[in-house]
Amino acid sequence: MRERLSMDKDWQFHLGDAVLLNDNSHDAVYGNAKAGGSRGAASIEWNDNEWETVQLPHDWSYKQPFDRENGVADFGYNTRGMGWYRKKFKLDPADNGKQLLLEFDGIATHATVYFNGSILERNFCGYTSFVIDVTDRAYFGDRPNLLVVKVDATVSEGWWYEGAGIYRHVWLTKKAPVHIADRGVWVNPIKQSNAKWLTNVETTIKNESEEIAAYQLISRIEDANGEIVAEQRTEGSSEAGKSVVVKQDLPIEHPVLWDVDDPTLYKLHSIVTINGQEVDSVVTNYGYRTIRICPDTGFYLNERPLKIKGTCNHQDHAGVGVALPDGIQEYRIGRLKEMGSNAYRCAHHNPTPELLDACDRLGMLVMDENRNFDSSREGLLQLENMVTRDRNHPSVVFYSLFNEEPLQGTPIGRKMVKRMMRAVRKLDSTRPILGAMNGGVMEDEGTVDVTDIAGFNYMNGGYDKFKEKHPNQPIIGSETVSSFATRSNYISDTEQQVFESYDREKASWGNTVRESWKAINTRDFVMGTFVWTGFDYRGEPTPYEWPSVSTHFGILDTCGFAKDPYYLYQAFWLDEPVLHIVAHWNWRGKEGQTVKVMTHTNCDEVALYLNDVFVDRQTIDIYEQHEWDVVYEPGTLKMEGYKDGQLVKVSEITTTDEAHTLRIETQKPFLLGDGRDAMAVNIYAVDAEGRFVPTNQSKVSFSMNGSGQILGVGNGNPNCHEPDNAMERSLFNGCCQLIVQSKVGQEDIELTVQGEGLQSVSYVIPVNAAEEMPFVPSISERYINNWLVTQEPTAERPDPNVTIHPTDMNSWEKVDVSFGALQMLRGVNGYVIYRNRIPMSAQEKSSNPYIWFHSISGDIEIYIDGKLHLKKFIPWSVDLEVPLQGVELDDQVTISVLIGIKPDMYSHGINGSVSIRMK
Ligand code: GAL
Repeated sequence: MRERLSMDKDWQFHLGDAVLLNDNSHDAVYGNAKAGGSRGAASIEWNDNEWETVQLPHDWSYKQPFDRENGVADFGYNTRGMGWYRKKFKLDPADNGKQLLLEFDGIATHATVYFNGSILERNFCGYTSFVIDVTDRAYFGDRPNLLVVKVDATVSEGWWYEGAGIYRHVWLTKKAPVHIADRGVWVNPIKQSNAKWLTNVETTIKNESEEIAAYQLISRIEDANGEIVAEQRTEGSSEAGKSVVVKQDLPIEHPVLWDVDDPTLYKLHSIVTINGQEVDSVVTNYGYRTIRICPDTGFYLNERPLKIKGTCNHQDHAGVGVALPDGIQEYRIGRLKEMGSNAYRCAHHNPTPELLDACDRLGMLVMDENRNFDSSREGLLQLENMVTRDRNHPSVVFYSLFNEEPLQGTPIGRKMVKRMMRAVRKLDSTRPILGAMNGGVMEDEGTVDVTDIAGFNYMNGGYDKFKEKHPNQPIIGSETVSSFATRSNYISDTEQQVFESYDREKASWGNTVRESWKAINTRDFVMGTFVWTGFDYRGEPTPYEWPSVSTHFGILDTCGFAKDPYYLYQAFWLDEPVLHIVAHWNWRGKEGQTVKVMTHTNCDEVALYLNDVFVDRQTIDIYEQHEWDVVYEPGTLKMEGYKDGQLVKVSEITTTDEAHTLRIETQKPFLLGDGRDAMAVNIYAVDAEGRFVPTNQSKVSFSMNGSGQILGVGNGNPNCHEPDNAMERSLFNGCCQLIVQSKVGQEDIELTVQGEGLQSVSYVIPVNAAEEMPFVPSISERYINNWLVTQEPTAERPDPNVTIHPTDMNSWEKVDVSFGALQMLRGVNGYVIYRNRIPMSAQEKSSNPYIWFHSISGDIEIYIDGKLHLKKFIPWSVDLEVPLQGVELDDQVTISVLIGIKPDMYSHGINGSVSIRMK
């Protein structure tokens, strides 16, 4: 039966490079060239106990101080560099014979993966998920397996903050030899009539056993209520070492459709049995929905026209860099949904799978984007990887092949796109494909008419001209707007590097929110928009550089706090009445001066009152909105919104008193005590009457008890250089945020928040009992398994400390003692020497180390650096502790074990692992 275990726990991490080949002798170079022979930090002997223990997802980059000298504005001024990760873990002997896969959801950026001393993968795209089959190379039982990942993040793939390290999840999957292949299920529901659907299922069954396998594949569909609504069984056989693709069609009548408003998911259970016994099974979530695009009227979901109201986003969030716990994906998608958004562009790269799961669950359409415009073998592999990983997600409705590529309008780009499209279509012909273009759309020999949709980045002045030239080519605003705003700030200041929020500030190539939406919403043939960006992100602080460390583009800041444009989108995109006042009313010292006040509303008329005195009433053009210059006096500014003459909404802003305390709001009512669940906790400055104070910048500190921990903090200020991995943070314009993750347990979390000069607040986050996700524990013990042994046992007692010449590869051989007694020593009357040289750290040397032989027997003499340390006759294999107290230990310790063997004694020698322990 299949098991899928989390590999996220307890990795040893070293920031910087580590030594691989730690000596230049022939012996070392020769050994390093052999399977399993990687040395230094990639070897089992390496001492990583002094490395930091970290949990995945892990991003080391945002934890580095901002550095103007060594940092790059585009990457957010954090240094990146290199890092090493190691995890030692054991596998049960019962796992021997199973297929064992390690799945990496994503590593930034160049990753070299060593498993048990060999490089098994080099993955050089920071956004690609990849799978390594370690079946042949795994150890079972006592000897741990060693997984080492060297990450080189000195290289970049983008022009935004990319993070550094194993920043997505890692999994270990164990399967029977006859099993469903990795990504071996593709569910493709086809609508036949309003009532009838056929669920096309393609399942790849792989036979990795030594003999032909007669299997039965059961595909079973479960609806959202847990009812089984269809089942099909197919019998067949697969030859040893081969795969078969089984095609099934499961009819479904009147399925509940997946839609953005009601994202109903079905489950496909794929079960493989042999002789009636289940050997493998996997569950795939999917949905029933249709998509269609029309050059004149845009996008249709389930035959309903749907304007795409999307945002472009990178992956990072406040407090955690790009290492987002799954709960924060949910938070982010939720914030965008509340804004009325129905689509998400993964700019400019393939996202983590958990993001797509959240989009499936919450009803968010996705433009899934490829990172590299590349039709080489490597480029196509990355692209195919994206498609085979993501094609079961009902949320994914577009594939984007590139973003703003200089070759987009050229014959070379055309050839590349054709090849890339063929690669996608071979795997999935159900989603339209586009490129996000910032030019070249009018060229005859470019990419634009090859793709299914013309993706326009900005260039909205060109929609009509393009439509005239290509009346049958659908258009989408693949990237739009690029306006600037700073949350709760109403005066632009180039010295402070902040922007006002009246929808006027924008990049020179961009548009205001209103201009852009008008251009798109008034043209049915433009399918919709993907606004740059939903969330602020680290890096690309355009148009500024230092001290700005994150962008100013977001509709939401890096924490997900709304800037004013959020409400403008709500006014555009929601049906319910929206009436937001752009401004705050805390202008102490500005009495008698004018303050600009603006509407973000979908009401047709708005009346304005200051301290209950009528000021004005205006008809509102939704694409223009309205603004007033109001003479400031403290009190309450009120707007009344009317639709068809009826009062439908009232909004107010009020002058508050000084901040008195803090209000805490959590993303959800409780956490699951599984050590994984996480949420955003938002902190707001409030006055004694509980009113939000948008001008407060107090420093706040946090403490936490119970089954929870603070992963990081943020405040959404693009110019703030306070660290995110801290227990304190300044409020920025009244707000800051904690990312809180549960620990395994069910002790409610007590969070205490203390603002400087403010009344402290305690808040209880309930933690509900939950099962921990099955995981692979790590071993911290140091193993020394790779020994040299004299190749021929000698009848004469040899010199146990004889020198081994570094070029002599033939009088000694490498043995892995974890496999047990050596056959070659059976029936021998004589002597054998085992030799090893192990590095010892200062900490180990000073902590009463001892060598622990897990299994050893014979007439034993142990020499440490040439001196006899212990002599003992052990007739039958037992474990043996050899304390090293009193020995002058160098950084490298040579151990020689001379063993006298008698032919009548069974299994003499070092017959099991050896480890170094400390008392
Ligand atoms: C586009 C680009 C984005 C971002 C944006 C800022 O040209 O595709 O990645 O840089 O500009 O306006």
